Amino acid sequence: MNRDETIIKNFKQKSFLKIMDFSKEELTQLIDLSIMMKKAKKENIPHKLLKDKNIALIFEKPSTRTRAAFSVAGRDLGANIDYFGKEELHIGEKESIEDTAIVLGRMYDAIEFRGHRHQDVEALSASAKVPVWNGLTDEWHPTQMIADFMTITEVFGSLEDKTLSYIGDGRNNIARDLLITGSILGVNVNIISPEKLFPDDDIIQMAQQYATLSGSKINISSDIDKTIVNSDVIYTDVWFSMGESKDLIDERIQLLKPFQVNQQLLEKTKNPNTIVLHCLPAFHDTNTNIGLSIHNKYDLEAMEITDQVFQTNKEMIFNQAENRLHSIKAIMAVTLGDMDTFYEQMAI
Ligand code: CP
Ligand code: NVA
Repeated sequence: MNRDETIIKNFKQKSFLKIMDFSKEELTQLIDLSIMMKKAKKENIPHKLLKDKNIALIFEKPSTRTRAAFSVAGRDLGANIDYFGKEELHIGEKESIEDTAIVLGRMYDAIEFRGHRHQDVEALSASAKVPVWNGLTDEWHPTQMIADFMTITEVFGSLEDKTLSYIGDGRNNIARDLLITGSILGVNVNIISPEKLFPDDDIIQMAQQYATLSGSKINISSDIDKTIVNSDVIYTDVWFSMGESKDLIDERIQLLKPFQVNQQLLEKTKNPNTIVLHCLPAFHDTNTNIGLSIHNKYDLEAMEITDQVFQTNKEMIFNQAENRLHSIKAIMAVTLGDMDTFYEQMAI
């Protein structure tokens, strides 16, 4: 764990829109700070770094973890939080993103936005004149990445020489972001999916460039047996993401059934210390409306991860979910807070 004030200062008053906007050193500082934020919370060390700041949370898509994490982190930091759900603002319907951004930017100190098009969060940030945090778009989920690589750091002590294998829809926001974030941070990343769901070429090329700089290896493959050996982390996500057309379900299930994370697949890793991660929500049983309707139509007890694997690894997966709180708090704090005071309190 280290502290570099000059690097931490780079985040001040800056939006957090996508991982590529930051260097390996900056991301590493943020991961370390997230671990410190967790310690501060567990040990009741005061950290009201955003006292009396006003924060707007805008959610065009549903959320459990991200909304809860921004709300609780904001309150722990001493800020006032206002939540705006879908259809509660004029945004996009009666008022442009730009005009909304100007109005909110004159009232709030920062804005969180979860939406469909990535260009919308960029547009919000360009006009708001206050920092904007991306709470997920169709293309990226950067706050999730800080929690995920924080979790891996906690388990293994460092990210050095680690290999992460993502299995499932290789085109979605999580797969793209794991590929890019891993390649910036020097983590080897395998994307294992059917060829039809490989990430776009421009994403693979970008990851390759970052990997050359960081010394990591990236590999995009549909060959599970060959690719999965020696993985330290097996990561999966839903087979269809929020906002995708229901017409895709049939095809996705047929394509992705062989890529389910189940016991047989885990046995192929040959690494006794492999951990399993999932950003959640997960379809590991039939205890959801969607899970049940998929079961009735396709006779599947689970989709991307079996209940057996989920139950065996749930301590890790729910720790990953809890880490959304600590990492989002770190992001909010470096953007708006007086970090010198925090580091002094933590005696670092
Ligand atoms: N992982 C994640 O972003 O969860 P939510 O959709 O519940 O926010
Ligand atoms: N790929 C998923 C991630 C959810 C956190 C989605 O966008 O729905």
